[in-house]
Amino acid sequence: MALDEFLVELDGLTDSATESLNAALDVDSLEAVRIDLLGAKSGRLKALQKGLAAIDSAEKPVAGKRFNEAKQKIEAAYAAAKERLTFAVAQQSAAGFDPTEPGCKPILGHLHPITQTIEELKDIFARLGFSVADGPEIEDERHNFEALNIARSHPARDPLDNFYLQTATKSAGPERSEWLLRSQTSTVQIRVMDETPPPVRIVSLGRVYRPDTADATHYPMFHQIEGLLVDTDVTMADLKSVLRMFCSSYLGEDVHVRFRPSFFPFTEPSVEVDMRWQDGWIEMGGAGMVDPNVFEAVGYDPEKVTGFAFGLGVERLCARRYGITDIREFFKNDVRFLHQF
Ligand code: PHE
Repeated sequence: MALDEFLVELDGLTDSATESLNAALDVDSLEAVRIDLLGAKSGRLKALQKGLAAIDSAEKPVAGKRFNEAKQKIEAAYAAAKERLTFAVAQQSAAGFDPTEPGCKPILGHLHPITQTIEELKDIFARLGFSVADGPEIEDERHNFEALNIARSHPARDPLDNFYLQTATKSAGPERSEWLLRSQTSTVQIRVMDETPPPVRIVSLGRVYRPDTADATHYPMFHQIEGLLVDTDVTMADLKSVLRMFCSSYLGEDVHVRFRPSFFPFTEPSVEVDMRWQDGWIEMGGAGMVDPNVFEAVGYDPEKVTGFAFGLGVERLCARRYGITDIREFFKNDVRFLHQF
């Protein structure tokens, strides 16, 4: 190949190379141009380099020098294009980030409203000097009925009103056992008095179970707060003032508390406790003076000690505070409801 011809081709390649390198719009197309021009195997520059061999030996130094210059020029144009495009990419992603925009808050969960209520009730009673006691949800008939003075014939023990558990016996198949899901937290009164001598001043909060059909005010599982205070010379006036103090701590000074005569086998006298706050009266639970038969069942001397007990519905307390009209809302686990607490 003649030198002239070679130089013309070399200039042509240099011009078209710089042009396409400058025109590359993104990193990918730049890479395609690089392979076409500078590719080690079949790049256009490599192909032209092969033409060098055919050049007259006297003219080879000039051709070689010009070839190297052209190669450097193309490589420099490539480096410049690469820098231009990488910078643009960096700028583009920086443009998508606005440091003044508020951040994305992660969605945090929180305690269920019933759990929050339980914690608050424990706090209020702690301030009134009550400690917290616990009992199992699977109970025997002694704790759920007998020691609470609920006779075998009492309708409260009816299998239709309780969740008795079945146990398998070898011969006759499943049989009703004396185990049941507790129907009231009054079981804990017995557990505490069985284990500790008087004086006693406890609250116990937890689940209870009754085979009720779920509606706006019933659910087969709900929570109670049980209270028990036993000492010398405890009177009904103490019961009333503790419940009044509790109600005004929980709902506010403007709450009204009303006691209606009632009957429970384990208290005598017994009352129903109603509350009125902002609108109509709502029954919150039962209470009364501990029946002497209960003291006898746990080995306390009814001649020496007296006491009061109460059991209130936790869902009712919580519903009253927040104006919830359907207890089922608590257990649907609809986050739109739960988020509000
Ligand atoms: N255990 C009773 C109930 O579930 C409430 C109660 C507790 C009544 C303590 C009197 C004393 O209805």
